[in-house]
Amino acid sequence: MTLVLATRNAHKVREIGQVLGPGFRLRSLADFPEVPEVPEEGETFEANAVQKAAFAARALGVPAMADDSGLEVDALQGAPGVRSARFAGERATSAENNAKLLRLLKGVQEAQRSARFRCVIALALPDGTARTAEGACAGRIAEAPRGTGGFGYDPLFIPDGYDRTFAELGEEVKNRISHRAHALRRAREMILEIAK
Ligand code: IMP
Repeated sequence: MTLVLATRNAHKVREIGQVLGPGFRLRSLADFPEVPEVPEEGETFEANAVQKAAFAARALGVPAMADDSGLEVDALQGAPGVRSARFAGERATSAENNAKLLRLLKGVQEAQRSARFRCVIALALPDGTARTAEGACAGRIAEAPRGTGGFGYDPLFIPDGYDRTFAELGEEVKNRISHRAHALRRAREMILEIAK
């Protein structure tokens, strides 16, 4: 089954492929350079996921799936949230975003460093209609980046029940417990139905 993912983030494509398993052939917008970048203007993960999936499905004339995700830090009233990718600026690198997060949390004790990753997966048809599924993963923010795996805030995120960051724990653990893995498992039935 071929599924188009409305993203150019190779890390997301890889994780989604690993969680969905070998029955799916994933294409991403990297395979369709003619489809323009979708502006992310929504105030929620759900609005952004639907916007991205619907835009790609309309542009390509096939069902498309999108992931919108981010990190919510309680001590920062839920920031960076939907602005996770551009927390430190429009074209910020992950290192810059992580540095800003650590700066804002300087002096905040471990018990107050609680956070969660959230992910909404949207599946859209070429007529623009869409359905969504959500997943979350709770944890806390480390004092300094650790580990080399994953992407984004992974070097700073310690999931509940572990002492190591997502970047240290590696793919096998992350793909079992992550926000994206939970959302994808919930979306699986929808995907099988829509991509028939
Ligand atoms: P999006 O591409 O607009 O959904 O932005 C997602 C952003 O949230 C990424 O650029 C990361 O900064 C962050 N993010 C989402 N999921 C993860 C994850 O699994 N690990 C680390 N950072 C993530």
